Amino acid sequence: MPIEKVGVVGCGLMGSGIAQVAAQAGCDVIVREVSQQLVDKGLQAIDKNLARQVEKGTLTAAERDNIRGRLRGTTNLDDFKDRDIVIEAIIEQLPAKKELYRALDNICSKAAIFASNTSSISITEMATATARPDRFVGMHFFNPVPVMKLVEVIRTIATDPKVFEEVAALGARFGKTVVRTTDRSGFIVNRLLVPYLLDAVRALEEGVASVEDIDNSMKLGCGHPMGPLTLLDFVGLDTTYYISNIMFDEFKEKRFASPPLLKRMVLAGWNGRKAGRGFYDYSDPAKPKAMDLR
Ligand code: 3HC
Repeated sequence: MPIEKVGVVGCGLMGSGIAQVAAQAGCDVIVREVSQQLVDKGLQAIDKNLARQVEKGTLTAAERDNIRGRLRGTTNLDDFKDRDIVIEAIIEQLPAKKELYRALDNICSKAAIFASNTSSISITEMATATARPDRFVGMHFFNPVPVMKLVEVIRTIATDPKVFEEVAALGARFGKTVVRTTDRSGFIVNRLLVPYLLDAVRALEEGVASVEDIDNSMKLGCGHPMGPLTLLDFVGLDTTYYISNIMFDEFKEKRFASPPLLKRMVLAGWNGRKAGRGFYDYSDPAKPKAMDLR
């Protein structure tokens, strides 16, 4: 049976993007947030993205209306009882995820597949909160989801190979290039990206160069779309800090250890673009100004 009915838990930055690409791929989508205010905020972000595509002529108004007709918000998890797959994109905290999966396991049919968009938490451990470890995978998207062309599909030692391939096919249907990987913290991308981002902070901390010069080096010297410190502000310093701690805990390797400056910035609440301040000050979002972090 092809996957048609998709549930997305979380309608923040990642969840709203996942709901959008699923609806654009023709799936029937319900996205859940904890309050109506957050549902509305997430759906507004999707509407803005779709409106931009209509303005650019990459989508017709009729196509936009069809996509929106396939997508609805809810605050009630019970609405997920007929879903073929539930993709979870909530806060990166194991207790919260386990509590959610326990509830979903009782609500959803036995045939439903659970997929987590976690960037570093063990899929195997989340699956222990359910009676369906064989129907549990990781499906890791990248920010901004509608733009980034990759999805990592992750299997555990308990995942049914047929389920794994069904989810990989769904990722391709969402318009993404699918890479297949196993349940090791950070999977492929963050295993390589996180040490690089942490090294950029270490270079700044050691006085190797300024914020702008570190960013310009990787942008202009290596052709990256964003320098590492801009990317940290974009992803969120708190998010990167949590990921690095989980990866350090998994591998006990220094390259995953968070540098003190990153920890101090997270403690201060300077979490990047969403907080208005990180390695740059976003008082004028069109002209971010490098912070003096000495
Ligand atoms: N949502 C939807 N579309 C967006 C968007 C958003 N938030 N931001 C930008 N876009 C679209 C624009 O509409 C534009 O579309 P078009 O080409 O059809 O006109 C296109 O993306 C390019 O945008 P801009 O011209 O405004 O700006 P840029 O060319 O600078 O691109 C960027 C913006 C795509 C964000 C680019 O800077 C980039 O690729 N940055 C790196 C992003 C990255 O590395 N993401 C991965 C982070 S790691 C992660 O997510 C994993 C996690 O576990 C940590």
